[in-house]
Parts: sequence; C-alpha cells; structure tokens
Amino acid sequence: MNETTASIERLKKEKNAVIMAHYYVADEVQEIADYIGDSYYLSETATKIDAETIVLCGVSFMGESAKILNPQKTVLLPDETADCPMAHMASIERIREVRRQYEDVAVVCYVNSTAELKTESDVCVTSANALKIVQALPNKNIFFIPDQNLAHYIADKLPEKNFIFNDGYCHVHHDIPVSRITEAKALHPAAELLVHPECRPEVTALADYVGSTSGIISYAKSSRAHEFIVITEMGVLYELKKQNPDKKFYTAEDMQICPNMKKITLDKIVQVLETGSPSVELQEDFMKRALSPMERMLALSK
Ligand code: 13P
Ligand code: SF4
Repeated sequence: MNETTASIERLKKEKNAVIMAHYYVADEVQEIADYIGDSYYLSETATKIDAETIVLCGVSFMGESAKILNPQKTVLLPDETADCPMAHMASIERIREVRRQYEDVAVVCYVNSTAELKTESDVCVTSANALKIVQALPNKNIFFIPDQNLAHYIADKLPEKNFIFNDGYCHVHHDIPVSRITEAKALHPAAELLVHPECRPEVTALADYVGSTSGIISYAKSSRAHEFIVITEMGVLYELKKQNPDKKFYTAEDMQICPNMKKITLDKIVQVLETGSPSVELQEDFMKRALSPMERMLALSK
C-alpha cells in the first residue's frame, strides 16, 4: 500500500466514509473503491450504506443522485467540475411544452441529467433498466430526455409507444463512427461486439450485445467467446480484464475516454476527505421533487 492509499484508508475510518466509484474512473481509483458499479448500482447501493459520508467518484449527477436518495448523508465530490455535458442537454421549457402538447405523456429522465431536470420528470431510468421501466408505464406517449441514442434504442423495441425525442447525446459514445466499428470487426473477426446504448443507432445495430456497463461486464463473463470489441468508455476494461484474465478485449479507437470521469484522482480523494469539501448541497424542497422519479425508478426496477 503506498502513502496516498494509506492516507485514504486512515481518513475513511476517521470520517466514517465509504468510496463509491463508477466503472469509467481511472483504474487506480477503481482499485481503492469500496463499491464500484454502473449508474443504477451506485444509486441503489447508496440507499443501503450505513456510513455517514459517501465519496462519489464519478460525475456530478451521480453525486446528486446519491444525495437525493440519502439527504441525511454527506456526499463528497473529489472534483466538482467533473460534470457530464449530456446531463444538461434538455430544458424545463421543452418539458413543459411537451406536457401541454400531449395529455398523457410520461417524461422519462435518463439518470444522466441534472437534479433540476429530474424535478420535472415522472420517472428516472438508467441504461440498465430503461427498457423494462418504459415498457411498464401505462402512458403511450414517452418524452425521453436527454439522450437521443438511448431513446432510439428503446423506441425500436417498443413500437406500441409513441416516442418524442430530445436531441441530447454523450459525446464520448456518439462520436464513435460506424466506420471504426467495421474496421475493428475486420481486425478481430472472432470477437463479439459489445456496445453501450448511448452509441448511435447504426453502431448498436451491429452489436452482439447492447447494455449498460454492468450488462457488458456480465455478458463478457458468461459468453463462450474469447475476444470482445468493447464500445463504451475504456475505464470498463479494468473490471473486464480483472474478471476475465484469459479473454481479450479490444476497443475501436483510443478516443473512448470521458475526460470528466478521468478528473477523479487519488490525491483529490485524500483532499476531499481531509477538508470535507466540496460536498453536494441541494435545497430541501428541490431534493424532495427530484426524489419522486428516482424512487419510482427503484420501485419499477425490482
Ligand atoms: P451506465 O449506466 O451504463 O453505468 O452508464 C453511465 C454513463 O455515464 C454512460 O456514459
Ligand atoms: Fe456523460 Fe458520456 Fe461521460 Fe457518461 S461517458 S459521464 S454520458 S459524458
């Protein structure tokens, strides 16, 4: 154990804190995390934590979600500038306009969204449960925010619903062109193609498996294939390689990096534990309104 890791261990005990991390953060951060998973796992697990403080190693909407679900806990962000650009790619005005246009509309909010957008939504989803939850909704009209690609992926599977699309996207996934996938497939013809649903429809159309980061990890473990082309943020390779030392994993390009997730470092974790700042601070009534769609997600995912 090096000096930084030893400091984190000591501070965790002193502050009664746990470290939660998303699969996209740097390998060394995943290595020291107490809990590591996809967005759904992080939200759900946050409701079961006994510790007083959660250090959320991920982007700010993940910290906000942990706080909304546990308002009595302190949620620390090692870097508060680590923000997901897609989380802002929808507007309250547009939600209200769609509600005026469609009487029975359900506003379905991908958890990769600001707390403010959640306050105006009917239900939250993550990439792990979006299909199941939207299918279970009684509403025919679905306004899915902010991600257009996940919306299209779900809409294709639910022709009985009428989707109203929003134009948000994740630059990390959306910018991977289909030409790179065909090149990777030509280079590794025996490999299965595993794709996150934030990718463009023409990319998900080529996949052997489409799913959340946890879904991709479970699929690779249970598959009989030995090689995989992984089309999501590269951080996920850490867990994939750890769980499958004998399997081979390739990416389509070196650009599969979320710069915001990579802002989280061990030194920043030490600092946030030492100072107790920055923490997620949200107004009480605001949190109550954002909690309702999140609780509905947790109930409908069971
Ligand atoms: P998951 O919900 O699959 O972990 O994805 C989160 C995310 O930020 C994808 O870009
Ligand atoms: Fe946001 Fe994309 Fe980064 Fe995920 S990978 S946090 S969606 S920018």
